[in-house]
This record gives sequence, structure tokens and C-alpha cells, in this order.
Amino acid sequence: MLFESYLNYDIEAALFLTLLWGTSAVLVARRPHHRSDRRGRRRATFMLVLVALGWLLVAGRLATTALMGSYGYLFVADRVAVALPLVVLPALAVLVLAVPRWRAHRRNPSAETRLATFAPQAVVPFQATALGALTGFVTAIMVTMGPPQLVPILTVYVSFLAILVGLWLWQQYRYRVAANGGPVRRSRPVRALRAVAVVAVVGLVLVGGLSWAANETVLPGRMNMTDHAHGGVSAAGAHGHSAGRTVSVADLTGPRSETPDRRFTLVAEATKLRLASGREVDAWLFNGQSPGPELRVKRGELIEVTVHNKVPDTNVSVHWHGVDVPNAEDGVAGVTQDAIKPGGTHVYRFRPDEVGTHWYHSHQQSSVQVKKGLFGPLIIEPEQSDLAPGTQDLIVSTHTWYSDELPLEPPAIGTVDQLDRRRMAPGTPVRLRLINTDGSTHRYSLTGTPFRVVAIDGNPINQPTDVSGEQVVIGGGGRYDLEFTMPAQPVRLTELRRYGSELRVVDGGLLLSADGTGDVQPDKPTEAFDPTTYGSAMPTPFGRDSTFTKTHSLVFDNELWFYDGRFTVVWASNGMAFPKAPSLTVREGDLVKVRFANRSHFDHPMHLHGHHVLVLSRNGKPATGSPLWLDTVNVEVGEIWEVAFKADNPGLWMDHCHNLDHAAAGMMSHVVYEGVTTPYEVGHDTPNELE
Ligand code: C2O
Ligand code: CU
Repeated sequence: MLFESYLNYDIEAALFLTLLWGTSAVLVARRPHHRSDRRGRRRATFMLVLVALGWLLVAGRLATTALMGSYGYLFVADRVAVALPLVVLPALAVLVLAVPRWRAHRRNPSAETRLATFAPQAVVPFQATALGALTGFVTAIMVTMGPPQLVPILTVYVSFLAILVGLWLWQQYRYRVAANGGPVRRSRPVRALRAVAVVAVVGLVLVGGLSWAANETVLPGRMNMTDHAHGGVSAAGAHGHSAGRTVSVADLTGPRSETPDRRFTLVAEATKLRLASGREVDAWLFNGQSPGPELRVKRGELIEVTVHNKVPDTNVSVHWHGVDVPNAEDGVAGVTQDAIKPGGTHVYRFRPDEVGTHWYHSHQQSSVQVKKGLFGPLIIEPEQSDLAPGTQDLIVSTHTWYSDELPLEPPAIGTVDQLDRRRMAPGTPVRLRLINTDGSTHRYSLTGTPFRVVAIDGNPINQPTDVSGEQVVIGGGGRYDLEFTMPAQPVRLTELRRYGSELRVVDGGLLLSADGTGDVQPDKPTEAFDPTTYGSAMPTPFGRDSTFTKTHSLVFDNELWFYDGRFTVVWASNGMAFPKAPSLTVREGDLVKVRFANRSHFDHPMHLHGHHVLVLSRNGKPATGSPLWLDTVNVEVGEIWEVAFKADNPGLWMDHCHNLDHAAAGMMSHVVYEGVTTPYEVGHDTPNELE
């Protein structure tokens, strides 16, 4: 939370720096007219005060940078490389070159000393500081940068110097004219005309530049992810796979000829959904229910799911979130298949070899389709059940429904948008499988009993211990399995929400009691459960000390910029939005370390398809608890997570923020195996919508 304040101060400091030094630069460049000694002295004093204030702001920005940097150097590396030097160095030049001249003018306010303050070496440092401050502001809020990279940094420095040279020459010319007594002051109409011309030219350049920038972000009508990945930044030499053989995504299927052990049918359809409160929403559901039918299977079974699409005018697909399926079964429209058209059918087949609480959802324009209800639980049990005999196994799938674009509060558990009361006999072992199908983070409080976190993202926790007095924080797309033995008194699961520093209880939730009645005042624990220190360590196939063949660092920002031609909030990775967001090219067998740093104003649950990642560290602290394998890493504001994965599942894999609105506004990229190509395309001119 503090990080966010520092980030805000930093952006404000950048803005005020720009305004103040911009004002100084304009004032200092005005043609010198010596009217009276008194006015000259006053002017000199004023400029010296402006410089002092300007330096205060410079010190302020150095301080905000230091504060942000205390959360991790990755947060400020770009500022240290660009924004700070471009302000500090010219502001030093102001001190060394301009300030002595203004002081001399104050001591002796003559026409000569005034003229000396008009020399290029006295004026250009102000202009340079203003330009540097503007660069610092723009790179903090509009075109952000991420970890320093040579080419963008050189571009900024070279353009900066080029502009300075221009300003210098111009000022030199003006200085000479002024030194020679200056031309006769031009008549009022001529000056007005000139002002109009300047405004027109600046306006045209600005409008032209912005519309070019807007246009440049328009997404192509069709694009192929193989091409785009190779055009993007890649950790491997991008075109290196010509030596190897290539394989098409379409051939990376699950077992196609064997007889399935389990068969399911999912029918996507548009319908009205009535919530427990009586409110009705326009929903798209699988088999008319929400959540969609529970697919419960055993590890190792061959599963066949036939999906029919009956949603009018809308193509759909199904992605198996948390299951490392073969690439062609991954359900990403435009990358691993063509979306299923209305009336169409698609058959998915895979043999899961992980256990746990997972879910499935549409992966065609998912920011819309998941919100509308195209999702359901997918539970994979071990061969021998991991539940104690008699366990009540409850799926708690939380979802926010929308009516007229507005979220309906509170979020519903299933279709229950009120307190969901259920009977539970004391002594019963209870498993709650919490699934966050929303994009935003949910914070849960479980009141009335200690509990154990037995699995996260479906992955079992080694030797879980009792937890109480802590919130369970689940990012968008994430799952937590909690277990406890039902006590004599009621137990209540509620959501907490932060309003500034205050925590409020959200209505609704789940209440378990012996007879289904009773009440519980929900706890409001402020501490959050930390999955990186929970449970006991045990050996993992790789870890912090392994040698990684690739390292990938991503800094997340929100920018005010154009996306698909519209001015909006863009969710950028290293300053880039899809399709330019940096993809990662890997080779089968690579051991990859990925670093996520969240410098934006919102949590980002980062989801990599086709792989589980092992958490190495969080905010610089090594993970010490049970090995923490995730498919969705919720990177909170101001956090840095280090995770690692083994490249052992060839294909073209989405890697995106599971706040699906963020994905739709740029926070989306891919992990691409060398030599894998796709016959499918995405874009408005294809059946496949982005995300
Ligand atoms: Cu659950 Cu790419 O999504
Ligand atoms: Cu996000």
C-alpha cells in the first residue's frame, strides 16, 4: 500500500518538475529589456527563487525514486537510467552556468549583466532541465520503459541531445541579435501573426504526432502469433530455429485414437440467469447452469469433452485453466484452434497428470465471455482420494455478475448473491474449494474455526499447519483449498474489501451451521496468509540455486496512452502492450526464470498456460515453505515475484494477466517454443477475437 503512495508522489513530482522548470525555461528565454534597475534586480531574485524551488523538486523526485527503489531496484532501474540523469545533469548546469550570471545581474542590474543571462549557456540549461523533466513525466505515465534496454535509452538520449543542439543554435542567434541592439521591435499585427503561426505549427505537429501514435496501436485485422513472436523481443536469437524441424500447433494434440475413460458434453448457450436475490442477468452458460457442470475426474484418465456452441452470433472456445494439456487442446482461439462458431462443435481430449481444483472457461474474447458466465469447475482427484472419509467437499466459485455493465454486489457464490446458509453437522471434515472466477483479487476471512490451506492452484501443500487470524488472498483465476473440521459453533466465509486503509466486510458469503441458522460476526484480520512461508520445504526438481538457461524480467505499468486506436488506460509490460509486449522464445528443456515487478495501481494475476511455475522468492525473500507451484501468480501492487518453470510442453502458450480486462487492454504475451508454428490467426477479420 505504501508503495502505491510513493508511486503517486513520484508521478506528481515528475509533473511539478515539468511545470516549474517549463515555466523557468519560458521566462528565461524572453528577450531582455532593461527598464529599470529595480525591476532587473527583482527579476533576478525571482529567477534565483525559481531555481531553488526547482532544485527542491529535483531532490523530491530523487527521494521518491529512492523510496520506490527500496521495494526492489527493478522498480526504478529505468528512472535511474533516463529520467533522473536528464533532470539532474542539466539542473546542475543551471547552477554552474546560469545562476552566477543571475547573481551578477542582481548585484549590478545593468543592461550588460542582463544580456549575459540571455547567452545560450545560461538559457539552454533551463530548457534542457524542462525537457528532461517532461521526458521523466512522459516515461512515468504515458510511454513507460521497464528494465533498461540499450536501444530505447539511446534513442531518448540522442533525440534529447539533438533537440538541445537546435535550441542552442537558435538561442545563439537570438543572443547575437539582442547583443547588436536587436531589430526594431516588430509591429503588433506582425507579432500576433507570428504567435498564431507558432501555435498552428506546434498544434499541427502535436495532432499529427498523436494521431500517428494512435494509428500505430490499431490491431491488425489478422495476425499470426508465430510471426508476431518473432518480431517481438525474444530471449533467444529469434530466427534460430531454421536448423530444427518445425511442428504445427494443430499436431500437438492429446490422445486421439484411444477410447476415452470419461466423456462430457458442454453446451454453451445464451440464457437468463436468476440469482438467489431474484435479480436476473443476461448470461452465457454451459448447460444452462452456473457455474457450469462440475467435471470431476481422476488423474490419468483420458477425458473427452465435446463442446457445442449455441450462443447466437458469438464464437466460443474452452480453456482448461491449471491443467498442462497438450497445446492443441488448450482452447485458445486463434492460437491453438479456431473458435467454435454458432452451431459448431469441438472435441477436446487430454489425460491430466496433475490433481487439484482447476476450472475451465471460454478463451475467446474472455474479458466478455467469462464475465457472462462461460466457466465451470474442473476437479482432478488422485487415484486414491485425498479426502478424509465423510468429507463434505464444497465448491465455492465466486463470481461477479453484471447488469447493464454495472457489477452486481455482492459477488455471488454460484448463483447465491446473498448469505449462503448451509447445514453442516459438527465433526464433519470440510473441504472448501475456493475458485476466483473474477479478474480482481478476493480477500477471504474464515471465522469460527482454524483451517489448513491444503492446496493452492490445485497443487497440494506439503504438511499444512493450522491458520487463523489471516486473510486468504486469491488473485483472479486462482484457487485455494481450505480444510477444517466443522466445530459446534457456526463458521462463516466472507469477503473483505479494502477501502484505503480500511477493511470492510462484503455482504454475502457462506455460513455453515448445525441447523443452517445462527450468525457470526466476521473477523477482519489485517494480516494476509503468506503462501511462500507456509508448510514444509521438500525437494523440488529445480530451485533458486539452479542454473537458468533464460531469465525474463517484466515490469508492469498502467499507461495513459492509445490502445487499438483509442485513448485509454493501457496495461503494459516493459512499456509495451500486446502484440508488442515481450514474448519469450524458449527451447524444449530450457529452465526459465521469470521476474514480475508490479509498478501499476492494480494487482496482476499472471497466468502462464501449459506450465506450472515454482515460486523462488517474493519481494526478495526466498520461498521457504512447502514448494509453491502456481499457474496464476498474483503480483500485488509494489511486489516482485521470482518464479521458474521448465520448458517441457512444446507449443505456443498464452502468458497473460488473468484480470481479463487488463489482458484485453494489452497485458498479454506468449511463451513460444522454437520451431512451433500455428495455422490459426487472430484479429477482427478472423473468427478469433483477441484474448
Ligand atoms: Cu484462465 Cu488464458 O486463462
Ligand atoms: Cu492485470
